[in-house]
Amino acid sequence: MIMNAQILNFTRLYRFGRPFSTGAVVCEAGEFEPAALPTNAIEGMNVNVGENSVVFTLALSPADRVYGLGEAVGALNKRGKKYRLYTTDDPVHTPDKENLYGSHPFVMVGGAVSPFGIFIDYPSEILFDIGFTKHDVMEIVIPSHNFNIYLFASPERTLTFMEIVREYLLLTGAPCCLPKWAFGYQQSRWSYPDAVSIAETAAQFRKLDIPCDAIYMDIDYMDNFKVFTIDEKKFPNFAAFTGTLKKEGFRLIPIIDPGVKCEDGYGFYEEGKHRRLFCETKDGSFFKAAVWPGLTHLPDFLNPQTRRWWAGLCRAFLESGIEGFWLDMNEPSVFYTPEAMQAVFNLVEDMRTNPDIPKRQLQEMVNALSNNRSYFKAFYHRTHLGDRVSNDEVHNLYGTLMAEAVADAFATHLPDKRYFLLSRSSYAGLHRIATIWTGDNMSWWEHMLSHIRMLMSLNMAGIFYTGADIGGFGCDVSPELMVRWVQLGVFSPLFRNHSAFGTRRQEPWAFDSATLDILRAAIKLRYALIPYSYSEYMQCVSELSSFIRPLMFDFDCQFDVEDQFMYGRSVMAAPVHEPNAAGRYALLPQVHWLYCSLLRHDDWAVSVLPPGVHYIDCPLERTPLLIRENSIVTLSEPLNYVGEREVECLRVVAFVTGTASYTYYEDDGLTYAYKRGIFSLIHIEIVNSGGAYDITIKAGGVPSKIKRIDFEIYGSDASLWQCSRELPI
Ligand code: GLC
Repeated sequence: MIMNAQILNFTRLYRFGRPFSTGAVVCEAGEFEPAALPTNAIEGMNVNVGENSVVFTLALSPADRVYGLGEAVGALNKRGKKYRLYTTDDPVHTPDKENLYGSHPFVMVGGAVSPFGIFIDYPSEILFDIGFTKHDVMEIVIPSHNFNIYLFASPERTLTFMEIVREYLLLTGAPCCLPKWAFGYQQSRWSYPDAVSIAETAAQFRKLDIPCDAIYMDIDYMDNFKVFTIDEKKFPNFAAFTGTLKKEGFRLIPIIDPGVKCEDGYGFYEEGKHRRLFCETKDGSFFKAAVWPGLTHLPDFLNPQTRRWWAGLCRAFLESGIEGFWLDMNEPSVFYTPEAMQAVFNLVEDMRTNPDIPKRQLQEMVNALSNNRSYFKAFYHRTHLGDRVSNDEVHNLYGTLMAEAVADAFATHLPDKRYFLLSRSSYAGLHRIATIWTGDNMSWWEHMLSHIRMLMSLNMAGIFYTGADIGGFGCDVSPELMVRWVQLGVFSPLFRNHSAFGTRRQEPWAFDSATLDILRAAIKLRYALIPYSYSEYMQCVSELSSFIRPLMFDFDCQFDVEDQFMYGRSVMAAPVHEPNAAGRYALLPQVHWLYCSLLRHDDWAVSVLPPGVHYIDCPLERTPLLIRENSIVTLSEPLNYVGEREVECLRVVAFVTGTASYTYYEDDGLTYAYKRGIFSLIHIEIVNSGGAYDITIKAGGVPSKIKRIDFEIYGSDASLWQCSRELPI
């Protein structure tokens, strides 16, 4: 039966069959009005109910764009490609790839048609063919009869893409607010394997005067990759070590992988088996998956008891001072199963005696070992009702359920502390409790462009705070690529430099001294911008409007710009993402822009550019930043780490030809006090009265820590006007 219900402002829910409850939606559907569909169409989409699937088709006009799908390889406008929403650990993100680690089945279509959105709440594979097979057709295949589909469309008026995103977030919930230190620079490497190497890394940041807030602990901190263990030879006193680092301004972020090593006598393995908290095969034995530790059992995160158990296991870390985790391999990733590996051995054995077996056969078998879909069909979860469901049927939820368990650990043990939770895999709704990074990219220029596009697409899916591994995870990075990527990182909410085992080192000091100086200057610029970044981020969360936005969200007719983005309301980023470039073309829509080419946070060359396409000079040592006409950006002196000392002086850089106003938001950055109204606001208005500027400052909320504001105001001819104001007024 198909039911139809009107909820929210302009959302319609169509329910097919008996959908699995994924937890993606927070809004109760309200009063259902069961109604058979009047025709075989839903709001302009043809619906074809087949034997095992439901297929939606929609005609696309040349002017229609399709946006969304969160984490996906390819263009921002999704037309011309196929996408498969089935979470997978694929470490080679080449343009042909159809699926990655997450599933965000939310798209928006608009251009020729009035913009509307589609969210399919279904936890297994969904296929989107967006003008690939037929240029003018979008086809969505759901290989099931049980799912919810939400349509965001208004018959009365033209919606904007931003309104549709907001509606999607009303349905799926507001993004969680990370602590302010998450806006600092973060250093990672596979691996800093022990306390000594972490302490040396931390010391190097302070010695070289490079700000940094967090250092990651990749898998080598564990005893033989056993989850929830710490190798005591490498970390003789972990809690004391965490405490010492925190005093120096560094948070440690350990990785947690789901696979529990099968090793007799390993307590968590024994306990999980005893309490039957692992995924089982059809015959009731525990499923075996090979991951980093060798053979493991996968916790059954669908089972609430397993989540509770896992949350409890996190406790020791929290008691040692850990405030953030990094959850990996939770698609879940399976390198191979013992059965599949045995089949390879058998083939090799046969090949000894039978030379006619083509080598290709072995090659194909080995290639099919990792993450073979048959594995996910072969193991089962238990629902809260005790029913069994195969992983394949709910596959895309695994990472999010793991994140839920860890988020519960924080909620239970550190209830008023904001935590940092980075997951690799995600499903719609994860943004309420955690965030993601975009997985194993490469030190390729092309992956800088992917980073830019994913920032925008993931923001549409509610993941406002996100980012890619800066510098690239796989392959070796060149100094030039590193510099350009860090300059992009200034505008990437997650600003984490991470790289793989065996690749060239990519800490800021791993290159020549000129490169080090440029990287330091860019990282300091990032810190100088934190008052703006954080204020914008928190306000975007409260307004449910994306923090990172394509130009077409804010301006008319800018559909095709995929390598520039709005970073909050005042700043546009136009990163240089090609090699050997001393600048780039940038499309500046609708208004005048103040182009700032920054050598350092306090050394800006500025020019005013009218709307149009411009070549902006940007030699390697300079970070480009554009300020929108009649806008304000708030900065401070860069600290060594967030919270090092109270910021008492705000620096306001503004480009004002008429009137500019801005509300600066600040809170403690650490707790949920802001939810209880404990935050301060400073409303700033600047009016250009021809040659001079009238400034009005009004305070709101609790008293601000800011005691002085230094203004640097640029007018239409780029001339600079400066003044200071003491606070409170
Ligand atoms: C996976 C992660 C990567 C991590 C590595 C080792 O490839 O995506 O970030 O460094 O595993 O844990």
